[in-house]
Amino acid sequence: MNESERLDKVISTQTSYSRKDIKRMARSGEILVNGKICKNSDVKINPEKDVITIGTDKISYKRHVYYMMNKPKGVLSASNDKNATTVVDILPPQLKRKNLFPAGRLDKDTTGLLIITDDGDFAHRMLSPNKQVYKHYIATLDKELDDTVKERFESGIVLSDGTVCQKAYFDKLSENTALVKICEGKFHQVKKMFLSCSYTVTELKRVQIGNLRLDEELEPSGVREMTQEEINSVFDGKIY
Ligand code: URA
Repeated sequence: MNESERLDKVISTQTSYSRKDIKRMARSGEILVNGKICKNSDVKINPEKDVITIGTDKISYKRHVYYMMNKPKGVLSASNDKNATTVVDILPPQLKRKNLFPAGRLDKDTTGLLIITDDGDFAHRMLSPNKQVYKHYIATLDKELDDTVKERFESGIVLSDGTVCQKAYFDKLSENTALVKICEGKFHQVKKMFLSCSYTVTELKRVQIGNLRLDEELEPSGVREMTQEEINSVFDGKIY
């Protein structure tokens, strides 16, 4: 990484302050670098080593952040939207910073595990079907499941428009609920897969990505930072 970065750039990526705010705060003596007032926000610093404070708040530098959210119903998986509330809008203020986005989308009415990050490479790796990172969903159906559905999911569903889906893992959990594991992310994929077997999904919850499970302690809308072990577990390729 670049050991020498502009002070305003570092602060602006780690907080929600604009460059203009930062310049103004620096001029008025509110920004300290290693305990000394720094009135010039253009100076080069080492973000890994130098200690930046704004007023009394220490900026803890993190190149990227990774949050686990228990997405509630009715919220859009996007960074911002003119009309709808997004998953980034509902983050607590202390977790907000620039360039955050959801790694992969859940439909507005889908709940459960969503990763919010500012690391594009991470998201790309997680979403690429080639990387075989399985996403696990619990689907509730409008009627009792018959035994042919498992076989169809496991041999590769063909959607109504002819799109061929990769083989999915399927476990019946109750008369009308199933655990489905897929490594692709086609639009409305799980709902469309069931529709092609004449079932309507009435509830959909994502519970796991790779080997990362949704922390069931998180209430709907709850969010917390992920540990390094959890970040790595997304790419643990085994199917559980
Ligand atoms: N498949 C769907 O149909 N919807 C989602 O939100 C995720 C997967």
